[in-house]
Amino acid sequence: MGPRELALTFLTLPLVVRAAAGGQWCYDSQDPKCGPSHWKELKATCGGNKQSPVNIDRRWLQRDRRLGDILFEGYDQAPPGKWRLANDGHTVVLSLASESVSEHITISGGGLPGRYRALQLHFHWGSPARNGSEHTLDGHQLPMELHIVHINVKYQTLAEAKGHPNGLAVLGFFFQVSETPNTNYNTIVVGLRNVSHAGDSVDLASTFRLSTLLPDGSRLSGYYRYQGSLTTPDCSEAVIWTVFEEPVEIGRDQLQVFFSSLHFPAAGSTLLKMTNNFRPPQPLRSRKVFASRAATASSTALAPACCQLLSPLLLLALTGLFSPAP
Ligand SMILES: *[C@@H]1O[C@H](CO)[C@@H](O)[C@H](O)[C@H]1NC(C)=O
Ligand SMILES: *[C@@H]1O[C@H](CO)[C@@H](O)[C@H](O)[C@H]1NC(C)=O
Ligand SMILES: [Zn+2]
Repeated sequence: MGPRELALTFLTLPLVVRAAAGGQWCYDSQDPKCGPSHWKELKATCGGNKQSPVNIDRRWLQRDRRLGDILFEGYDQAPPGKWRLANDGHTVVLSLASESVSEHITISGGGLPGRYRALQLHFHWGSPARNGSEHTLDGHQLPMELHIVHINVKYQTLAEAKGHPNGLAVLGFFFQVSETPNTNYNTIVVGLRNVSHAGDSVDLASTFRLSTLLPDGSRLSGYYRYQGSLTTPDCSEAVIWTVFEEPVEIGRDQLQVFFSSLHFPAAGSTLLKMTNNFRPPQPLRSRKVFASRAATASSTALAPACCQLLSPLLLLALTGLFSPAP
């Protein structure tokens, strides 16, 4: 299976799940009857113990000094081929996979167990009335979230990768709204108008350097890492998540185009705007969220792995020792 078929498999995955399960999944904004709380009825994995997204509680991060800089390769060259933008009925997806091995866009390092090739990127957003990121930061949603999905190069197919906890690596970026447009997003934002309806796709006028969609390279050292899942059915627990601290800026008017141009699949004659296409945070259970070497320490709880549990006890003991007896 070549990368193109791989990408196609990925894009059509929701349809496959739908057919296999005999029902369809959606977001509450489309129809609460098939929203995230029902996904586990379609696919048991969605009720698993390592689901994504999660709330990133900065009081309980665990510093891991092995989490250094991620090596981005091919992120700084515009590939000669075409990139296809599609409305898959749940989000807007830009497929990045290319036939030519030399055009591969990959990530490695940063504690990742190997090299991962970029397959596609997509977004999760809210509505004019609310923020719509999937991961939350100290309990708060941000306006939008970008996901760049990569497959471990040691696996040939997405199906194979989904069978392994290290099969996929997804990079997550939060957005922050600015009053001026981020012109690096113009190609995508203009393309949104061509994929208004579910199933629509368009070849973008030009490719561009993927790095231009991200925060400045010098700001990518700070990130959060945990083991999780795809945030849509089948919710495979095969994702090494990297969520970056530094948000990407997007113009208020540009964000508005996501809310206003795109639609969910039509139910009868009613055309519903694609809004609030995020899954809410899932329980962390026994997992930990790690902070990279250069992540900003936001609280005193950010202790080395050894001392994370010890420190509150230690603190209590010390307080007892040094405070005057009552
Ligand atoms: C939405 O996100 C912005 C950051 O761009 C933040 O300042 C604001 O508090 C968020 N709103 C809510 C309701 O969380
Ligand atoms: C995209 O839509 C614009 C009008 O909104 C149109 O002029 C253009 O031809 C479309 N592009 C493609 C490739 O369909
Ligand atoms: Zn996503």
